[in-house]
Amino acid sequence: MVKFVETKTLKEKVDVSTIGFGTHFTDYMFEMTYDEGQGWHDAQIVPYEEIKVSPANATLHYGQAIFEGMKAFRQGKDVVIFRTKDHLNRLNNSARILDIPPIDVDLVYDALHQLITIEKDWVPNKKGQSLYIRPFIFADDPFLGVSVSKRYKFYIILSPVAAYYAHGFAPVKIMVEDTYVRATKGGLGEAKTPANYAASLHAGLEAHKNGYDQVLWLDGVHRKYIGEVGSMNILFKIDGKIVTPALDGTILNGITRRTVLAVAKEWGMEVEERPITIDELVEDYENGKLEEVFGSGTAAVISPVGVLGYKDKVMTINDGKIGPFAQKMFNYITGLQSGEEKDIHGFIDK
Ligand code: COI
Repeated sequence: MVKFVETKTLKEKVDVSTIGFGTHFTDYMFEMTYDEGQGWHDAQIVPYEEIKVSPANATLHYGQAIFEGMKAFRQGKDVVIFRTKDHLNRLNNSARILDIPPIDVDLVYDALHQLITIEKDWVPNKKGQSLYIRPFIFADDPFLGVSVSKRYKFYIILSPVAAYYAHGFAPVKIMVEDTYVRATKGGLGEAKTPANYAASLHAGLEAHKNGYDQVLWLDGVHRKYIGEVGSMNILFKIDGKIVTPALDGTILNGITRRTVLAVAKEWGMEVEERPITIDELVEDYENGKLEEVFGSGTAAVISPVGVLGYKDKVMTINDGKIGPFAQKMFNYITGLQSGEEKDIHGFIDK
């Protein structure tokens, strides 16, 4: 058990169906500090409040930071977390890429469960709603030289959420981005680090202006290999098979992506992780082989894609409707999370 500092005033709970994603936060957060002499130390659960940093804070200037996203769900009287250790291990992989000292996964696993137990009343009880968990680490040196920091802070904050997209589980419109670049091989693409999201903002804004929800990134060198969406991985159902870009270091190693691939295999489907070009996709669309397109992610869960725009071409997928595979997978994953489906994989942590 980590130290617990109690708050004097508790906030009023919110009706999650009336608020946007990631706008409200609970009463407590987890905090831990790193410095060279002591390593990670002073793990504690404290009241949620603003963080004070130096105006010279290294993260504000150079962005040495990483984060994760996972979810807690209500299952009757219990509160469960989906694939906690997979997310914490992925945080450590991002830490390796950004030269941030790794965390002790077991210590943080226990502290997170302690935090969730304290905050259990914040976990919404409707299907499709959850308590979003956002762990993050940032460099804390008050220093303007460009170098790996010697001090870090680690926090976990919690936010009650419904669907990530404002229109809920409904097909989104995605524009294939052929001007801007998110990541290239040898870069940060696989890490969950703010730089990747900063790189996506301008393209996202332009996509919105053109009536799209998000962009689908192409590789930065050949400008033809499909990458990811940024807030989610991308998967296709082509001629009966589930096909998704291979993990080549430029895209996030999504935990929901992993879940979808494992479950699809169990359902007896053929699954391919391989390079996919946009030209192949257009050809498959024209030949009627591109049956479904959907995204996967912790925040997005399964997000069907109804329209894929590329240059002047507008491809309407499955008549712009939710595809049967995306629907079945969405039902299965949300069923696992709500407890309606049996957890045969050990994805659910009580
Ligand atoms: C998640 O799915 O947890 C993400 O981190 C995506 C996004 C909200 C940044």
